[in-house]
Amino acid sequence: MKTIQVKTPGYTYPVYIGENILQKLNDLLQQKHKTRQTAVITSKNIDQLYGDELRNNFSREIQLVTLHVPDGETAKSNEIVQRLYTGLLENKFERSSLIIALGGGVVGDLAGFIAATYLRGISLVQVPTTILAQVDSSIGGKVGINHPLGKNLIGAFKQPLLVLADTRTLQTLPDAEVRCGLGEVIKYGFILDRNFFDYIDKNLEKALLKDKKVLRQMAEISAAAKADVVTQDEKEQNLRMILNYGHTFGHALETDLKFGTLKHGEAVILGIKCALQYQRLENSLSEEDYELGMRVLNRIPVFYDRSSINPEKLADRMLLDKKVKDGKIRLILLEKIGQYRIEPNGNREKIIKAFDILKN
Ligand SMILES: NC(=O)c1ccc[n+]([C@@H]2O[C@H](COP(=O)([O-])OP(=O)(O)OC[C@H]3O[C@@H](n4cnc5c(N)ncnc54)[C@H](O)[C@@H]3O)[C@@H](O)[C@H]2O)c1
Ligand SMILES: [Zn+2]
Repeated sequence: MKTIQVKTPGYTYPVYIGENILQKLNDLLQQKHKTRQTAVITSKNIDQLYGDELRNNFSREIQLVTLHVPDGETAKSNEIVQRLYTGLLENKFERSSLIIALGGGVVGDLAGFIAATYLRGISLVQVPTTILAQVDSSIGGKVGINHPLGKNLIGAFKQPLLVLADTRTLQTLPDAEVRCGLGEVIKYGFILDRNFFDYIDKNLEKALLKDKKVLRQMAEISAAAKADVVTQDEKEQNLRMILNYGHTFGHALETDLKFGTLKHGEAVILGIKCALQYQRLENSLSEEDYELGMRVLNRIPVFYDRSSINPEKLADRMLLDKKVKDGKIRLILLEKIGQYRIEPNGNREKIIKAFDILKN
């Protein structure tokens, strides 16, 4: 098991990551928190897979309540939030109670939002079970829900007592979720770490087949990269924005109506392709790195309707994004593979042409 420390203003917490560590939760928690009441927030699907193992951690003296939420993005809603508050109130949960989020990014964001707001905040533990959640959403304290007018618009910062990421849980992930998660993993290789990028290049097929050792290695390195960025952001304001590599293009694709079926990680993979193409158009990345980047990305299958790509519309959507300041769109690009660069003023015409590549 690896322990990564995340330092945020005034508070440091550990991310434990490794295989078969779910049963260690109680021991790890003992040092941090004493409570009689604990609520496990999860979906039925994940509960069936890992709920008992998690609950078996706790002694009989603890009042354990499991609250189920639906699967999928729609769970991050006001209605489900109210339902969860009711569940906690009916069970007389107090200020000293604990919430455990067992699941992917949806459960983590939602349960984290509950922990941030119930009685003005109670303790939280993140137990992420998807690649995306283990390497990204469970680390850093951003929690929240959606509003009918947009994704993730209502939220808070809620740092957990600890994050426990058991990479064995990744074995039961559907293939599509593995592909999605790899979109985030590869992002760290592109912006921060050439050696890691080469490792991904060498082991991508194994990862797609859920090779345990490879997935664990990728999750560990990526989680450490995320923790490092979050920690540094404390001093260097806005460093977190580099995590948006591929995301500015990707969000436009994700929210485009005809793209309703595109998952976040898939949109990120396509978004990184657009970012590479953008740099090719302005000659700001070596041909070698462009080719290598595309070659690796093309090995992760993403299914989408090429005829529905409308570059002008997508560019407009991108310019409406919240990352736009004074009409200027900031792009995260590369110096080279393994090193990010910030472009303060993206060019609309080139953005349109970059989206064009997705039509082929
Ligand atoms: N807070 C942040 O910083 C942050 C960062 C990135 C993404 N997010 C959010 O994360 C969400 C996406 O998270 P996600 O990709 O984990 O999707 P998800 O939570 O919807 O999980 C995907 C699917 O996998 C299933 N699942 C989860 N773990 C499983 C397992 N071990 N075995 C089998 N099935 C399992 C879930 O039931 C679900 O159907 C989005 O809502 C996004 O906004 C948040
Ligand atoms: Zn992402």
